[in-house]
Amino acid sequence: MAMAERFPASRFVGYDLRGGDRLGRSRAAEAGLSNLTFEVRDLSDFDVSATPEAFELVTTFDGIHDQAQPRRLLKGIRRSLTAEGIYLVQDIHASSHHHLDREHPLGAMLYAVSLSHCMTVSLAQGGEGLGTMWGRERALAYLEEAGFRDIRVHQLEHDIQNDYFVCRP
Ligand SMILES: C[S@@+](CC[C@H](N)C(=O)[O-])C[C@H]1O[C@@H](n2cnc3c(N)ncnc32)[C@H](O)[C@@H]1O
Repeated sequence: MAMAERFPASRFVGYDLRGGDRLGRSRAAEAGLSNLTFEVRDLSDFDVSATPEAFELVTTFDGIHDQAQPRRLLKGIRRSLTAEGIYLVQDIHASSHHHLDREHPLGAMLYAVSLSHCMTVSLAQGGEGLGTMWGRERALAYLEEAGFRDIRVHQLEHDIQNDYFVCRP
């Protein structure tokens, strides 16, 4: 919604399983945004169902770690980007190795959230069950496997919880 408001000449689409679409549509309508649509879509087969070169920008905000098939989704995102396109990923700041997260200020809480929600969402779909704390090393490996070659990781000063990956083909 924030991007649709700021860039009225651009078009935006949001995908989610059933539920998120209704809330999104009603909020977009309330805000009078006609350049923003929402579609119910199971992204588990996005590696083959994504339209090639459909988007100049793709974003996921905590959108990878509870997917059923995160690797297929990432491959589809790469496929759906134009040659100059950018994929912005916000996901939880963690290591992929438990012992390196012992000093993580939010580690215990985030592992608990992972077990009780995020892993469960994925496993309930027969998925990989990555979980909230899949971590930076695994994220980089999956992004590279999906075909991203220029990946920059940022942390924002005000945000101890997240990593921001700016990915280009
Ligand atoms: C942690 S939420 C993040 C939602 C939103 N980006 C936000 O920041 O509030 C993860 C989202 O992934 C969606 N999701 C999980 N599995 C999915 C699938 N197979 N296909 C599409 N979306 C899926 C969930 O429905 C949920 O809305």
